Amino acid sequence: MTHISYPDIKTKIGNISLDNPFINASGCACYSENDLLNLINSESGFYITKTITLNHRDGNDGPRYYHNTELSLNSMGLPNLGLNEYLKFKNNIKDKLQKMNTNIYDINNNKYNKPLFFSVGTMSNNETLEILSKLELELDGLSGIEFNISCPNIEGKGQLGYDFDALDSFLKLISETYLFNISRNNLAIGLKMSPYFDNYQFNIVADIIKKYPRLDFLTCINGLGNGLIINREYETTYIRPNLGCGGIGGSVVKPSGLANVYKFKKLLNDKIDIIGCGGVSNGSDAFDYILAGASAVSIGTELVRKGTKIFGNIKKELEDIMIDKKYTSLGEFKNNLKII
Ligand code: DHB
Repeated sequence: MTHISYPDIKTKIGNISLDNPFINASGCACYSENDLLNLINSESGFYITKTITLNHRDGNDGPRYYHNTELSLNSMGLPNLGLNEYLKFKNNIKDKLQKMNTNIYDINNNKYNKPLFFSVGTMSNNETLEILSKLELELDGLSGIEFNISCPNIEGKGQLGYDFDALDSFLKLISETYLFNISRNNLAIGLKMSPYFDNYQFNIVADIIKKYPRLDFLTCINGLGNGLIINREYETTYIRPNLGCGGIGGSVVKPSGLANVYKFKKLLNDKIDIIGCGGVSNGSDAFDYILAGASAVSIGTELVRKGTKIFGNIKKELEDIMIDKKYTSLGEFKNNLKII
């Protein structure tokens, strides 16, 4: 009798161990305490907050989000509860869960000890420094920080990811804080990247990243900026801010997401882990990202569409593909894409 061993889909970002590679894309289903509790109760391997600013922000006027079967369009404008509320959430997770439903809270196995990452905004260097100074005393229960250098929706503000000198200065600034002395075993530090399109951009950004070896990961990619979707019947835009233009997500961005993962993995090699993001809706998409070099995979548009049950489904689909291809661990095919 042949014995098929169940594939192992454990992975790591930096030195943070994960039961599986799946995470919500920051911004999707992670604004409120309730959203975050749903993520803990889902089958994701880890989870991340909405991008956090020092103070609460309402964000842009609505309508500010639209999706159809192929893509999503957003110009949210960084609505978030502000740093203090996310810190309160982090510090009260266990109490909250125990109160919610004791039979799904497994105290002995510490089942809800799922790694939590904060997405941290980079509205200004001063604000980021202030956030970091508050976080310094609050690191217990936090496993990762993803600096969002690529928000496409703040009026009058370019993306740090596209201003290479400003990006380098920003990284130099944070590298001189306590943050870069925290052990990798306790905290993964990474960047949510803008989508790049030109080889010159990949090379120059990779050279900047190499100057900061404490960085553990890059999340590639954020939405493709300034997309426009038109409602033909009414001859209007679907969203109101920024003349109706916004960041594009969904299956149409997958080729760009894959190429960004692949090129950065080639340029940075084992120095950095990559979280693949963009157009992931099933196990095949996840397989492709891992083959292109990703260690973990984010789900955005499809998570908003389907809710947190997507994590259980996509895990099963990835495992089935691995069984089919006789892979027993992610390492057997990760970063193993061959050029024809
Ligand atoms: C928003 C959108 C993003 O893609 C992002 O990275 C951060 C914030 C937003 O508009 O809220």
